[in-house]
Amino acid sequence: MRARLALALILMIPLTMFAFPKGKQEAESKGSVEAGEALFKKNCALCHHADSNEPKMGPGLKGLFKNKVLPSSHKLATESNVREQILEGNLKAKPMPMPPFAGKLKPEEVDSLIKYLKTL
Ligand code: HEC
Repeated sequence: MRARLALALILMIPLTMFAFPKGKQEAESKGSVEAGEALFKKNCALCHHADSNEPKMGPGLKGLFKNKVLPSSHKLATESNVREQILEGNLKAKPMPMPPFAGKLKPEEVDSLIKYLKTL
């Protein structure tokens, strides 16, 4: 009886070893807040404050995801609307367009940016 229990436990060890590294890889492939902050400084900070709602070239992005609606278009502050803004920009915006980042940022970089924007 004891031996069977011990055998069952031994058989479970490889299962848990496979389960954990996989979870970690998935988290990494979706980007990180730190990477997002660096990308923001490089690509967005020229036109957007991260720590205030004061406009720069575009609206300040403090509290972006904590507010109900996005600061300029007043669309709902959802991940998909923000992703769309990043990828497509808004070339018709007045007095100043926002450039599209599709093709300039990799999908995991956009994921990182969104993770970072959620912390603002
Ligand atoms: C050259 C200046 C410029 C750069 C660079 C820029 N933006 Fe913008 N952004 C704007 C302007 C202008 C607006 C307001 C016009 C509009 O509604 O699109 C805006 C609007 C936004 C909005 C609000 C959209 C809405 O629907 O209210 C978000 C979110 C945003 N930008 C995120 C970003 C992120 C993230 C980056 C970096 C990847 C970035 N922007 C880079 C100029 C810029």
